[in-house]
Amino acid sequence: MFFTLIRTFFYLCPSNSKKLQTIMSDSPIIITLSHQKGGVGKSTLAFNLAAYFQKQGDACAVVDSDLQGTITEIYNNFSEDKETIAGVKLIRRSAFKDYKELLKLNQFALIVIDTPPYLSEELNQIYPLSDFVLVPTKPSVKDYLAISKTINLIRMAKAANPNVETGVVINMAVHSSKFNAIIREELEKEDVRVLKTEIGQRVEFTRYELYAGSIFDTDDEKAQAEIAALGKEVFTILSNN
Ligand SMILES: Nc1ncnc2c1ncn2[C@@H]1O[C@H](COP(=O)(O)OP(=O)(O)OP(=O)(O)O)[C@@H](O)[C@H]1O
Ligand SMILES: [Mg+2]
Repeated sequence: MFFTLIRTFFYLCPSNSKKLQTIMSDSPIIITLSHQKGGVGKSTLAFNLAAYFQKQGDACAVVDSDLQGTITEIYNNFSEDKETIAGVKLIRRSAFKDYKELLKLNQFALIVIDTPPYLSEELNQIYPLSDFVLVPTKPSVKDYLAISKTINLIRMAKAANPNVETGVVINMAVHSSKFNAIIREELEKEDVRVLKTEIGQRVEFTRYELYAGSIFDTDDEKAQAEIAALGKEVFTILSNN
């Protein structure tokens, strides 16, 4: 009785309500950051999204499937134990052979996979396991011209896994730019979900690593609020699934 009351209390507690562990099954939730376009913010959003859920009380890990090793290098250089930053664990690519092995790591509520800026063979393993494929896009003319690639990527992920949730997130948004709305409109015309949350062009996203932490260790509250809004929106989509 006592434990039931405690469990009910934690379940109803608002700060607990965005925990992925309340909606996960036996396996961790897998969120994959993907886009064949380079420099759109996959690695930045992958790590900081994991850091958001970690802060919410979920055990989170990141996997770096990009040979460039952006996230791996951050851990090599800024993590004291080489495997934890802001509570988020790095699962090194050498620690498993098949991506399916990640599904057994139920000590984690969430595993975020960062992928390279090309259509790697590994995506064929990663998409079928993913609960959410998140595709960052920059609101620039060049990204507008590459919009068919964004649309194709979403279709590829859906073809590999009809149950996967997908969404484009506008990153490095400059709020005075018309391009945010233009890109959103073009994608929505093609039935591509564009998240309400937009992540601004903010200097702390280029240097939070120096705090050996995440964006939540900087004093940029706007950037933190954007990542939190992204996490909440992804959570809501996953929990309605
Ligand atoms: N919202 C943002 N505001 C400012 N700078 C950002 C933002 N998001 C990412 N950046 C910066 O843009 C650059 C590219 O970001 P990132 O490395 O995350 O992109 P990527 O898609 O993973 O690139 P690649 O395709 O090369 O792996 C980095 O220097 C990063 O610090
Ligand atoms: Mg990257």
